[in-house]
Amino acid sequence: MKEVKIETTLEIYDDYNELPQSIQALMQSAIDARNNAYAPYSKFNVGAAILLDNNEVVIGSNQENACYPSGLCAERTAIYYAGAKYPEAKILKMAITASSQNQVTDQPIPPCGSCRQSIAEYEIKQDLQIEIYFMGAKGKVVKSHSLANLLPLLFENSVL
Ligand code: THU
Repeated sequence: MKEVKIETTLEIYDDYNELPQSIQALMQSAIDARNNAYAPYSKFNVGAAILLDNNEVVIGSNQENACYPSGLCAERTAIYYAGAKYPEAKILKMAITASSQNQVTDQPIPPCGSCRQSIAEYEIKQDLQIEIYFMGAKGKVVKSHSLANLLPLLFENSVL
C-alpha cells in the first residue's frame, strides 16, 4: 500500500474589481445571466458565461422545474448551448456567479459535481484547458486554470 497525495492550486482574487478587465466583462455577462435565472424553488440564482475562441460569449442560468430533477444548472445550460450552437469552437474561459434570494452570498460558489463532469467532457474533447472563475454575489473570486484541477480522478471516455 502507498499513499498518494493529490494537490490543487487555485488563485484567489479578493474582489471582482481585481480581475483583469476581460474577465470582469465575462463575469458581468454571468451576473446578467444570473439575474435571468428561473429559480422559484431554491431561490438560488446561478449565472454562467463562456468565452469561445471565435470570440462569442454564451450564457446560461439555472432553470428549475416543479419536478426538481428535471431542472438544470447554469453551467450545463451554458456549455450544452455552446456545444449545440458552436460545435467547432473551443471553450476558453467560463465565469460563474451565484446569489441566494434569501441571504447575501459572499463566498465563491464552485460548480457542482455534475457540472464539473460535464465541463470536463469538453476540456477532454477540445484538448485545451478551460479557465474557470467562480464567485458568489460579491467578495472573493476563485480562478482555476483548468476543469481537471477541480475534479481529480474524473471519469474519462478513454476507459470506454
Ligand atoms: N445550481 C447551479 O446552477 N449550478 C451549480 O453548480 C450548483 C447548483 C443550481 C441548481 C438549482 O437550480 C439551484 O442552484 C440550487 O441547487
